[in-house]
Amino acid sequence: MNTLAKTRMDVEYEQPLQEAASGSVCATKHAWARVPAEPSPTERAALKDKIRRLLKEKNAVMVSHYYVHPDLQDLAEETGGLVSDSLEMARFGRDHAATTLVVSGVRFMGETSKILSPEKRVLMPDLDATCSLDLGCPVDDFSAFCDAHPDRTVVVYANTSAAVKARADWLVTSSCALEIVRALKDKGEKILWAPDRHLGGYIQRETGADMVMWGGSCIVHDEFKSFELEALIKTHPGAKVLVHPESPAEVVALADAVGSTSAILKAAREMDANEFIVATDNGMMHKLRTLNPGKVFIEAPTAGNSATCKSCAHCPWMAMNCLLDVARVLETGANEIHVDPALGLRARQPIDRMLAFTAALKAGQVPGSLVPLIGAA
Ligand code: 13P
Ligand code: SF4
Repeated sequence: MNTLAKTRMDVEYEQPLQEAASGSVCATKHAWARVPAEPSPTERAALKDKIRRLLKEKNAVMVSHYYVHPDLQDLAEETGGLVSDSLEMARFGRDHAATTLVVSGVRFMGETSKILSPEKRVLMPDLDATCSLDLGCPVDDFSAFCDAHPDRTVVVYANTSAAVKARADWLVTSSCALEIVRALKDKGEKILWAPDRHLGGYIQRETGADMVMWGGSCIVHDEFKSFELEALIKTHPGAKVLVHPESPAEVVALADAVGSTSAILKAAREMDANEFIVATDNGMMHKLRTLNPGKVFIEAPTAGNSATCKSCAHCPWMAMNCLLDVARVLETGANEIHVDPALGLRARQPIDRMLAFTAALKAGQVPGSLVPLIGAA
């Protein structure tokens, strides 16, 4: 088997300046990703067999995000694990009986699993798989922002470090942010939101909540372009437009459905259309197409396959996850996620609140009746 070398690439992301966190001034910073080569068919089959065997031997389960390589999505499901959005990844890892979780996604997903299950071993294929939202919200700057707004309830998106979560009153993912902020607003609370300005803007427009915002963004969703999308819609008049709310407001405004990765899947299944234009990471296409074989899915336009496109609709850090590394970490125990226990305890509070809120909502309780669950930490 060859070594399946990874190609290192430079990735630009935005770092909101602290004094301008509620505005739009950002410094451009550089991070990197390493994208693995595709294995040959023989290597691929051998790696899958090895992973199946190791999962059993090590009492381990795979938890994969919809944006990772299709092989890691399919293998997770085939072996009794899960492919899902970030909210269900957290819940599944917490509730599963396995003693080892192999989390394919980006760093914050592994950290959230570890915070919720400190007794479990959490392994990730590549510990350097990060996220521009996490990178763009360093804890010291974020803490200063919180200190400047002591009267606000701090609502933090899941795509952040454990240290940032530990400063939060509430954690949200894109599948529950709307309901949680609406419930907080109805209780009269003013919100400090971080880090994604596009998701925050969407929530603010939908709920009318009083929100001050960190100015971060996702390098993938930030790329979707409304002008080009309008042109595409004209050439596909019957298509429905599905948009992840990390996209810019002008793109969200063109959507027939807006929501998290799992909400996009649900809309594709339930909407009365045969064609869909999808504005989210193109890793989603695998599940969209396999679950809806008769339907056509088209990628929403980004800046183009040129130097002006930072990500071209695929997250370079999600792309770091590969079969070879899943096999390697299972075999060696490398790439274990560690979270300082005291920090983990503090970060767990807002996550537990979110999970309790969403579980109660799912069980049929209306958000207003969840008021006893709501309040600053
Ligand atoms: P979801 O919570 O919708 O899965 O999104 C996670 C993410 O990183 C989107 O870019
Ligand atoms: Fe972060 Fe965007 Fe990648 Fe999601 S797609 S992990 S938000 S950089």
